[in-house]
Amino acid sequence: MPEIWTRLEAVGLQTTEACGDVPRVVLGSPVAGIAADELIDPSGLITDIVARYIGDESLANLPRKFKTAITGSPSQDVVHEINDISYVAVDHPEFGVGFDLWVGGGLSTAPRFAERLGVFITPDRVAEVWHGVASLFRDYGYRRLRNKARLKFLLADWGPAKFRQILEDEFLESPLPDGPAAPPPTRPGDHVGVHKQTDGRYYIGVTPFVGRVSGPTLLSLAALLEANGSTRLRTTPHQKLVLLDIPEENVESLIVALDKIGLAARPSLFRRSTIACTGIEYCKLAIVETKKSATDAVLELEKRLASINVPQPISLHVNGCPNSCARIQTADIGLKGQLLPDGNGGQVPGFQVHLGGGLASHDREEAGLGRTVRGLKVTADDIADYVERIVLRFLADRRDTETFAVWAHRADEEALQ
Ligand code: HEM
Ligand code: SF4
Repeated sequence: MPEIWTRLEAVGLQTTEACGDVPRVVLGSPVAGIAADELIDPSGLITDIVARYIGDESLANLPRKFKTAITGSPSQDVVHEINDISYVAVDHPEFGVGFDLWVGGGLSTAPRFAERLGVFITPDRVAEVWHGVASLFRDYGYRRLRNKARLKFLLADWGPAKFRQILEDEFLESPLPDGPAAPPPTRPGDHVGVHKQTDGRYYIGVTPFVGRVSGPTLLSLAALLEANGSTRLRTTPHQKLVLLDIPEENVESLIVALDKIGLAARPSLFRRSTIACTGIEYCKLAIVETKKSATDAVLELEKRLASINVPQPISLHVNGCPNSCARIQTADIGLKGQLLPDGNGGQVPGFQVHLGGGLASHDREEAGLGRTVRGLKVTADDIADYVERIVLRFLADRRDTETFAVWAHRADEEALQ
């Protein structure tokens, strides 16, 4: 084991506080310091937080896990709505580019979106504010019941105004200025496709099947990257890979070669928008298998819906248990793993269905957490049948430019079966 840690650390993968009631890994924009449309590169700020506070014993016994996300991308690519603390870049009319602060998000069995505190954080105060919120959670967070301990439960009781007041009064050097909300995301935050870097080269976001890549695929990918003058890739919270530093003249030929090893830069609708959590193969909390069931469903849907014009992305998220690592409540179609009766006294793997969830645009009418319908379950073998059926019903019943999520929230329970 020590040899494994040593080798991981040698390539920059540290495991300190990767688990436990501690500050977990800080999620950063996968295109930090790369993308031409970036507002601010948060890399140095993340390094600063990690260097100062990860391993700090005064923060090593929090009430529960504490998750951080920071992005400078106008695509808002770190699912900031469901982290305990998030910084989203925004251009302040007076102070320039800094961050909008969100706190208290999380999913699992009591899902809740984070809320804005209405403050503006200049880059030089990011670490101080982070330490303030983590310390506030340590001192005021609930410790009596483990399933009521995340920061979201404290925020739910206090509300953002009181939270801000106590943060400023007791944990910061001085109050924070008011700040505007970031505008809606400019483009999808999964970074799939070809995008321009600040240095004139390109980055390419590619889609494996539900986030899984094998050792041989990674070796082929490394060889392809090197042959195209690149040595860098990154991963995204949407289970995509982002290949950096590709010269313009290599882009199209590389995309063809990537396709041959199962990495699509121009994926089908469901290949792109399906994610699945770790599931029973490797997760001890899992109730059902996820990756293979989801992959089989995507392959089947690619065939069945090939000739159908679906006007906008419809996301499919597959979880092996209620913890929601694959964020089912924020998907158009979210599947929560559970065992279902097989009709003969036994049980088969299956899922409870959540419909019409959404994320980044949740200030707008059409997005929020998904709804459940009493008794609406699918077996693992029936995922493709169900998704095909519900998508076709949506297309037949949709009014004007209505999104799947809006339709799913207004549709009759029978229509969603
Ligand atoms: C395989 C082992 C894993 C275990 C045992 C595990 C465990 C958990 C648990 C217990 C929760 C619920 C937290 C709560 O009740 O407050 C949770 C939530 C979550 N996990 Fe995992 N997880 C695993 C893997 C992952 C991976 C690989 C990712 C993504 C890279 C991930 C992302 C999330 C997200 C997004 C949530 C929901 C947001 C939240 O409430 O924090 N998990 N996980
Ligand atoms: S959702 Fe459940 S099964 Fe899936 S990785 Fe998280 S804890 Fe494991």
